[in-house]
Amino acid sequence: MGYTNDRLVLMTGTAHKELAQSISAELGIPVANAHIGRFPDGEIDIKVYDDIRGGDVFVIQPTCPPVNENWIELLLIIDTLRRASAGRVTVVMPYYGYARKDRKDEGRVPISAKVVANTLASVGADRMLTMDMHAAQIQGFFDIPVDHLYAKPVLMAGVKRLGIENPVIVTPDVGGVKMARAWAKAIGADLAIVDKRRISGSEIAVEHVIGNVDGRNVIIVDDMISTGGSISEAAAITRRHGAKKIVLAASHAVFCGPAVQRLDACPADKILVTDTIPRRGDSPKALEVVSVAGLLARAIRNIHRSESVSSLFEEIQ
Ligand code: R5P
Repeated sequence: MGYTNDRLVLMTGTAHKELAQSISAELGIPVANAHIGRFPDGEIDIKVYDDIRGGDVFVIQPTCPPVNENWIELLLIIDTLRRASAGRVTVVMPYYGYARKDRKDEGRVPISAKVVANTLASVGADRMLTMDMHAAQIQGFFDIPVDHLYAKPVLMAGVKRLGIENPVIVTPDVGGVKMARAWAKAIGADLAIVDKRRISGSEIAVEHVIGNVDGRNVIIVDDMISTGGSISEAAAITRRHGAKKIVLAASHAVFCGPAVQRLDACPADKILVTDTIPRRGDSPKALEVVSVAGLLARAIRNIHRSESVSSLFEEIQ
C-alpha cells in the first residue's frame, strides 16, 4: 500500500453502475470520472480522467454475469489505479462470482474461487469488501484484509414490513443451515430443512422436509437464486407439506436460465432479493428488491476512517 491522503474516491466498473450511484448518493461524493469501454475486438479500454494520486479508492464491481467480462474488467481497473499511484485500493465486490467452486470435490477440477482471490491480490488490491459469499471460508483464500458483510439485516427489515406471523425459517439445502439458523435465532422462529439433491447445474431433486411447516407461514432463505431450481422446489415442497404463506428471501439475484419462469410458477407470495446484482430483463411478478447501498456506504466510510465494520453486521436499516 502506498501513501494514502484523506481523500475517499469511489470508482465503478460497468457491472453495476446503478449500485455505485446509490452508494455515491449515500456518501455524498461523486463517482470518479472514467471511461470504460471496449476496443473493436472486444478488449477492454480504460481511462481514468480524475487525479487519484494518493487517494483511498473503493472500486465497486460485483462479478455477476457476464462473470468473466466483469472479472477481467475489475482486474484492469485495479491495474489502472495502481499505475495512477492510488494510495490504497479496496475492491467492493457485493457478489463474488465463482464462489461456489471453492474446493476440489472431485478429480481434475479447478478451485475457481481461489483463482479469483489470487488474481485480485496479484494485480494490486489492498483490501476486499464483499457480502454473503457462498462460503465464508473463502476469506482464507486472501492474504489481504477481507470484510464480509451480511445482507440479512436489510432482507429481514423487508420481511418485517410484510408482517408475517409466527414464521418457520426454511433452508433449501443442508449447506444453508448456518444462515437459516442465524435468521431463526434473530427472530425467535423454528427451523426446517429441505433435503435437496443436485442432479446437474440447473436440475435438482427434493424429497423430504425435516421439521414441521404444516399450517405455518414460511420464510425460505438462501444466499443466491441462480437458475431458481433450489428455492422454487423448496417452495413447492413446503406447500405440499401444508405451508400457508411462503416468502423467499435471497441475497443475490443471479436469475439465469429458467429462473424467472420457475419463480413465477412456484407458490411464493413474495420474493425478496437485494440489489447486489443489477436487474436486467424480466423479473418475477412477486419480486421486491431491497437495497444494500446504505450498508455498503457505511462499510466504505468505516473502512476509510479505520472504524469497526463488524458493528454493521446486525444493523437493521
Ligand atoms: C447452493 O448451495 C446455493 O446456496 C443455492 O441454493 C444455489 O446455488 C442456487 O442455485 P439454483 O437457483 O440454480 O438452484
